[in-house]
Amino acid sequence: MRIVIKPNASDAADTCAALIEAALRKTPDMALGLATGGTMEPVYARLRAAHEAGLSFARCSSFNLDEYVGLAGDHPQSYRHYMQQHLFDHVDIRPEAAHLPDGAAADPVAAAAQYDALIGRCGPIGLQLLGLGSNGHIGFNEPSSSLVSRSRVKTLTRKTVEANSRFFGPDETPPHLSITMGIGTIMEASRIVLLATGRGKAQAAAAMIEGPLSAHCPASILQMHTDATVILDEEAAADLAERDYYDWVELQRSRVPGQAG
Ligand code: GLP
Repeated sequence: MRIVIKPNASDAADTCAALIEAALRKTPDMALGLATGGTMEPVYARLRAAHEAGLSFARCSSFNLDEYVGLAGDHPQSYRHYMQQHLFDHVDIRPEAAHLPDGAAADPVAAAAQYDALIGRCGPIGLQLLGLGSNGHIGFNEPSSSLVSRSRVKTLTRKTVEANSRFFGPDETPPHLSITMGIGTIMEASRIVLLATGRGKAQAAAAMIEGPLSAHCPASILQMHTDATVILDEEAAADLAERDYYDWVELQRSRVPGQAG
């Protein structure tokens, strides 16, 4: 696992967006795995700017991690709407190539299985972007999720519902169910880039990087991926025990680019 610690959330988003841009420039027809959440908003702002400066999404396809069950794509709090607003409406991605699970499907269980099969047919995902829940979830794979799970319907924890209720109006009930890419599905991506910023993510980040491999912290599965990069800001890195070593590795990398791990 490569651990990159930046002074603040803005620098961390710069680094994250630069990795995505470089991957897309190298492999314009790649399948990109995308994430939602407040953490990703500055990343998409940078990708929109990169598009204005010439980065094309025309040949790539994208697969988002998750969607709320019961919200149609035009619902303002659906992740489809989020993606349209923050990225898809502003770049040249082909609408038919920008995929999210169908939260409004009459049969969400079947829709989740179909989504997994679609990723299998169009994949592998070349770069999967991930955020981090403050309880260690990735996508909506909450603690106790099978570490080899496929895409499926998952019940959200109360903590996640509360955390995400800030995006909903006071008279709206946030959904308690989601369709999420499974952990096994996520792990099939060739490369994973996780971005976490802010003090609220520090405990989960430490459990992910330095804790035991455990379904209690689903993100700890990244310890088993051969090409995972975790980008943190100072606040999210606050609970790391081996912080000095991670900085030392990055210093070596900067001296001999691509050589040290
Ligand atoms: C939601 C999403 C996750 C995301 C998490 C963190 O629960 N399903 O994919 O990582 O939020 O969101 P934020 O960046 O807003 O803290």
